Amino acid sequence: MTTHEGRLAGKVALITGAARGLGAQIARRFHDEGATPIITDLSESACRELADELGGDAFALDVTQSAAVTEVFAKVAANHGRLDILVNNAGISGMEDRPEEVQRGYDIAMAQMADTMAGNPPSVHPDVTLRTTDQDWHRVLAVHLDGTFFCTREAMRIMGPKRSGAIINLSSIMGTSGGSGASAYCAAKAGILGLTRAHAREFVSQGIRVNAIAPGWIETAMTDALGPMRPLIAAQTPMGRMGDTDDIAWAAVYLASEEAKFVTGQVLSPNGGWYMSQ
Ligand SMILES: NC(=O)c1ccc[n+]([C@@H]2O[C@H](COP(=O)([O-])OP(=O)(O)OC[C@H]3O[C@@H](n4cnc5c(N)ncnc54)[C@H](O)[C@@H]3O)[C@@H](O)[C@H]2O)c1
Repeated sequence: MTTHEGRLAGKVALITGAARGLGAQIARRFHDEGATPIITDLSESACRELADELGGDAFALDVTQSAAVTEVFAKVAANHGRLDILVNNAGISGMEDRPEEVQRGYDIAMAQMADTMAGNPPSVHPDVTLRTTDQDWHRVLAVHLDGTFFCTREAMRIMGPKRSGAIINLSSIMGTSGGSGASAYCAAKAGILGLTRAHAREFVSQGIRVNAIAPGWIETAMTDALGPMRPLIAAQTPMGRMGDTDDIAWAAVYLASEEAKFVTGQVLSPNGGWYMSQ
C-alpha cells in the first residue's frame, strides 16, 4: 500500500511482460506516482525482484494461455477488489531466436543501398516471408493479439462494474509504417490498433478509456537483439538516437492518469521523429 500522493494515487495497475524493459519501467513510474503495480511475466521468479522493490504482487502469466489469464485476474479481484489500469505490454519480435535473419536483414539493407547509390536495380531481396513457418507466424500473433484480447476481457470483468478504468495497449510504429522482414509483428501491432479503437468504442459507456502507445525504437532487450542494425536505426531517427524506457513510461503515466480523461481510442507515439503521423 502506498502512502504518498501522485498522479495515480491509490490505483491498482496490472502490467503484462513487466519483468524487464518497457513493462518494468512503466511499473516503476506507476509506483512513483502512487499506484500499486501488479507485475506479471512468463515466470514468477522473473517478476519477484521488481515486485518486492515496488511492494506489489507478482504472478506468472503467459498471456497466450486463456485459462491462466482468467485465473490471475480472479486473484487480482480477490486480493484488491479492483483494477484501475491494465497495460497490455507483453510482446516478442519473433526474431529473438533468429539472429541469422537479423544479420541477413542488415546485409541486404546495405547491399540494396549500395545498388541504389550505384544507379543499379536491387540485386538482392529479403525473402523473410518465404522462410517464416506457420509456427513463427502464429506465435507472434498469439502473444500480441490473443494476449491483448484475453487480458482485456478479464480486466473488463473487474473494471466494467466499477464504471472506471484505463487500458493501454503497446503497439509500435511498425503497426502503421510496416517493416521489411517483420510481417507477423507488423500485422500484430496493426491489429492492436484495431482492437484499441474497437474496445475504446465498446467500453466508453462504462467510463473505461482504451488507448495505444506506438513506440519508436527503444533501448531494451528486444532491440539489443538487432545488433548491427542499431546504428542504422539511430541514424534514420531525426533525433539521432534510440529512445529510453522512460520515453514510453511517461506516456503510459499520462494515458493512465486523470490528465487524459478526455482521451480514448488514440495512439500516442514517442518515436524521436522516426514516424511523424500515427
Ligand atoms: N523496444 C522497442 O523498440 C519497442 C518498440 C515498439 C513496441 N515495443 C513493444 O513494447 C512491448 C515491450 O517490449 P520491450 O522492448 O520491453 O521488450 P522485452 O523483450 O524487453 O520485454 C518483453 C517482455 O514480455 C515478456 N513476454 C514475452 N512473451 C510473453 C507471454 N507470452 N506472456 C507474458 N509475457 C511475455 C518477456 O518475458 C519480457 O519480459 C512489446 O509489446 C513490444 O512489442 C517495443
